Amino acid sequence: METKEKIFAVFGNPIEHSRSPKIHSLFSQQTKINIIYRSECINLEKFSEAVKNFFSLGGSGLNVTVPFKTEAFVLSDELSKRASNAGAVNTLFFKDGCIHGDNTDGVGLLYDLEKNLKWKLKGANILIIGAGGAARGIIEPILHARPSSLTISNRTIAKADNLVDIFYSLSKKSGCEFKSTALDNISDRYDIIINATSLSLDGRLPDLSSDIFLGSACYDLMYSSQLTNFLSWAKENGAITIADGLGMLVEQAAESFFLWHGIRPETESVIQEIRQNI
Ligand code: ATR
Repeated sequence: METKEKIFAVFGNPIEHSRSPKIHSLFSQQTKINIIYRSECINLEKFSEAVKNFFSLGGSGLNVTVPFKTEAFVLSDELSKRASNAGAVNTLFFKDGCIHGDNTDGVGLLYDLEKNLKWKLKGANILIIGAGGAARGIIEPILHARPSSLTISNRTIAKADNLVDIFYSLSKKSGCEFKSTALDNISDRYDIIINATSLSLDGRLPDLSSDIFLGSACYDLMYSSQLTNFLSWAKENGAITIADGLGMLVEQAAESFFLWHGIRPETESVIQEIRQNI
């Protein structure tokens, strides 16, 4: 009997540097689930139309990347709780006549921090630098991990305050001290510092005191072939361990794969292979 391969894709703009096709092809080989997975550069004005066309032509699932995660959130007929909290969608699938939106970024980060890197979040004092979409997407899973405190620091303090308002009731349930602070006012020591600003995209650094890194574990949501400037800076100023967002990238993809196929692939070998080829 002929089995027709299901079709998946990642939509973004630009898209040529996306690792998602390679990652999903490695997952597909590993799990022996044959799929077609493409990357498509979508016209900035035509995202919604492109998604609807994709599913009407029989596509099974989509990943969504910059700059369309908020638009994907808006066009989803049904949202998972974590996508709803994140205010953004990175995974879409079609079921029972509806477009379902989910967000696997936050859980991807958690897998990387706790399973791969073995950083202990429970009871830790954690600082997130940045209060845009990337920061919002990781707050809920971090709170679920029950840190002792979580501080959001941002250049525009009102945006950090807003995130504290959105997640405040969840932080109460987790017994976590949850607060915002201005970048130039960070004075406490943190066990874990996460850079969720867009600054690493062009190698710039946030305007904060380098004293904060001493003794901390530092994570940059960005990744590149070389150490990001943020991680080099943290290391030079006493960070005890550092990691970039490549592990998170592979883990969020594994979670999307799980949503689509019901199997969570092994990720360690995939992280290694992607690392060797960036
Ligand atoms: P993303 O969806 O990637 O999070 P975003 O919503 O544009 O992108 O958010 C970018 C983040 O990087 C914000 O926290 C932004 O700070 P502001 O809210 O003050 O804009 C931060 N960022 C960008 N450029 C920055 C800079 N030069 N210094 C400090 N923070 C910066």
